[in-house]
Amino acid sequence: MQFSIVIPTLNESENVDLLLSRLFALDLLPGSFEVIFVDDGSKDGTPTKIREWEAHNKHIHLVERQEKPDLTASILAGVAIAKSDIIMVMDADLSHLPEQVPAIVAPILTGKYDVAVGSRYVSGGSTHGWPLYRQWLSRLGGFLARPICDVSDATSGFFAFRRELIANIAERARGYKILLELLMSGQGNLKIIEIPISFHDRTHGTSKLSLSHHLIYLQRLITLAGGTASIGTASRFAIVGFVGVFVDAFIFQWMINLSFGLALAHITSFLAAVTINYILNSKWSFRSHLEGSLNWQQFGRFLTVGLLALLLRGGVLALLVYTWHLSAELAIFPAIAATAIINYLGSAFYVFPESKNCPPLNVRWQVAAVGVVLFVTLLRLVYLGLAQLIPDEAYYWQYSQHMDLSFFDHPPMVAWLIWLGTAIAGQNEFGVRIGAFICGLITMGYLYVFARNLYNKSTGMRAIMLLSVLPFGFASGIVITPDAPLMASWAATLYYMERALIADRKIAWLGMGIAFGLGLLSKYTIGLLGIAALAFVILDPNARRWLLRPYPYFAAFLALLLFSPVVIWNFQNDWVSFLFQTERLGGGGHVFSVHYLVLYVAIILTPIGLYAALQALWYVGTNGKHNQCERRRNLFIFIFTGIPLIIFLGISTFDTPRFHWTCPLWLAILPTIAWMMGQNSALQTVSNRLRAIWQPTIIVSLLAYAFVLHYVVLGIPGIPYQFLAEHYFWKEAAIEIEKIAEEIESQNGQAPIVVGMNKWSIASALSFYTKDSSNMDIRSRNMFGDKSAMYDFWYPSHPATDRPIILIGIKRHTLEHDRAGNEIDRMLIQPSTIQYKAVTRNGTPLRPLYYRTAQGYRGRSI
Ligand code: GDD
Ligand code: MN
Repeated sequence: MQFSIVIPTLNESENVDLLLSRLFALDLLPGSFEVIFVDDGSKDGTPTKIREWEAHNKHIHLVERQEKPDLTASILAGVAIAKSDIIMVMDADLSHLPEQVPAIVAPILTGKYDVAVGSRYVSGGSTHGWPLYRQWLSRLGGFLARPICDVSDATSGFFAFRRELIANIAERARGYKILLELLMSGQGNLKIIEIPISFHDRTHGTSKLSLSHHLIYLQRLITLAGGTASIGTASRFAIVGFVGVFVDAFIFQWMINLSFGLALAHITSFLAAVTINYILNSKWSFRSHLEGSLNWQQFGRFLTVGLLALLLRGGVLALLVYTWHLSAELAIFPAIAATAIINYLGSAFYVFPESKNCPPLNVRWQVAAVGVVLFVTLLRLVYLGLAQLIPDEAYYWQYSQHMDLSFFDHPPMVAWLIWLGTAIAGQNEFGVRIGAFICGLITMGYLYVFARNLYNKSTGMRAIMLLSVLPFGFASGIVITPDAPLMASWAATLYYMERALIADRKIAWLGMGIAFGLGLLSKYTIGLLGIAALAFVILDPNARRWLLRPYPYFAAFLALLLFSPVVIWNFQNDWVSFLFQTERLGGGGHVFSVHYLVLYVAIILTPIGLYAALQALWYVGTNGKHNQCERRRNLFIFIFTGIPLIIFLGISTFDTPRFHWTCPLWLAILPTIAWMMGQNSALQTVSNRLRAIWQPTIIVSLLAYAFVLHYVVLGIPGIPYQFLAEHYFWKEAAIEIEKIAEEIESQNGQAPIVVGMNKWSIASALSFYTKDSSNMDIRSRNMFGDKSAMYDFWYPSHPATDRPIILIGIKRHTLEHDRAGNEIDRMLIQPSTIQYKAVTRNGTPLRPLYYRTAQGYRGRSI
């Protein structure tokens, strides 16, 4: 006997004959398999049909269960009487073709695999005759299982396995999905193969799958992923939630009516509701998961989840009230609903997790990764259009208002993205930033496949979790600067480089050329990857032979072609960008600044991130001497992180770095950091220590981003705005300045020229926030001397005029003299003294502003 086929049946009388005749027509040795039917009390004569066959064939058996019908229990009952140690499970309704049985047992028979899954969703697999909704449902079921199990068709009912695996299945396994239980029971150590099948909907009888099966499936998924879920806890949670909603909404409405302001009202009502919720949830909803009375650690976790939900909900409220103009009284309800989901998932997985059968480390990280990435994405999406632009973003928006092939201080990609975003979504913060958000998603996608190719899927998931959570990654997915598209093309270039140089794929050179070219259109820094690639090809003998083939040269050509707009623009403009970039490197005043570079890296990576990155770099630099595959991978990572890093270190010995310079280079080491996080045996001590600090780092970072976004959009009661004073809140400042301008115009009869007295940030921010008023004429400080980057091109100089002038400064001295020390007074006609104004919003001071007015401009060279 080679294997036993277990077939559960419930009212399948019309299918029994067909199935058995086809099974026994298979080209298999007689007696090489047995068929065990497990019937759950069919009323249509199925058992009688089977008995008839059983009488004539000693390899056919019937088990008739008396207990409550259950698919998993039936299969287990069949396995219990099987004579063989190799079990094959299939449906009785001919959805699973008997002819495909041999292909599925084969991998188990040869002993090469532990589980073989007949899969509809690998290439070659298919589904026939199912209505659309069933196909979607099945896809969704598989999709939800993806984070915890590595199989494309985790809900398949057609599979084979070795019998001893059944011993590991959780006792509580019930419902439809015994396969999922099997796959998870191996703690990630099973050898699993998927074999394509074609699934045909039944022609006789009806499906027994019902809503309750879906719910049980969901519940098992949550439990297998380490969460706590049962219909009981969920419904108790919902009831408690309703009490909370009532308290929350009541207090909120009351405070809004007393004009307390959105932030104070929603925070207070939330805190009241949350306290009541915690008491009820811990005493009632999740009561079976609590040992002892008050558990401080658990309460801390509860507060964390609550805080995250609260800070996100501020954004939802602001979105509904400020952008969609809903009344606050109504907006609170959808806002509560949105946060309830976060609260429930947070409670199930993080606050009150399943303590009995804790899933393996990998699975726990994967679940965390999904949660973190989803939260970050949601946070970005909600606040994207709410938070005011920072001056840099406004400056790049100005680029997009003067569309060109390239620009003085940056290549054009950032401008093109903003142009496109605002063309689609309008001239607002959302339109300006949406490009950054999409670049963030692209970066994530490429980083994931890059890390998965280097290590495995679980590492890929952790890598994108780190990307979402570390400051450099978080920021580049919400703030639009040249770094947003740079990161995306950097990640894409890394991915294609690895495919080309390590996996030896010709076609990857095409992707590489495009990604690198788009990178060059974003920021010149990506050139460092070219140097790294060269170094790798020289050091790695296998990769060296690419030098003799045309593909790399084709890729380089393609990249240059994409870069041509920048070359053309520079050709037309006396090569100014290139001169500017080289000048910047040459003439930095020769200050040793390596310590600044280190400090900046500790900011963009967090200190833990920096430590982990160095450790990972050390690891890839010193390991893999014996295994060719590992050696090449480690060399790749080492070179593609190390070369850009060394170059930046070199530059910082004589020039001050900007803090975000090194951002993209950390992409190459993230997979290794992520891989080390998940190693529990090989790297015991180090990674245990790291793991202990990663968890708080991730949580603190999430809280920090949510906090900052809530703070700048709605404020946090009790915390003043002094910290951002100099560079933010130009929207409100613009309103003040418009008032001053109007006043002057009414006195003077002429609209004034407004001059932002620094390089470009004041002028750009004011331009963005006064774009709707027609008579604002805004210049930058180059009007009075000094350089102003693109403003030198847009508004080269201004002749003397008797139009009134308003000078705006962040710092007082910028209104007194320029950087060369020339007095500004002397260029003005009847200048006023320097005035100070505190810009406010609803009475809260936001930022200081200095300004002075004059009756005209004498020209620059006086
Ligand atoms: N013993 C027993 N007890 N057998 C049952 C029970 C039960 O409670 N419920 C269903 N069966 C048998 C059916 O008689 C059939 O042989 C097989 O299990 C599958 O049941 P169907 O009712 O035909 O399920 P389906 O076609 O809707 O679902 C199929 O696709 C799903 C994937 O989306 C099955 O292959 C599922 O296993 C699969 O998960
Ligand atoms: Mn079926």
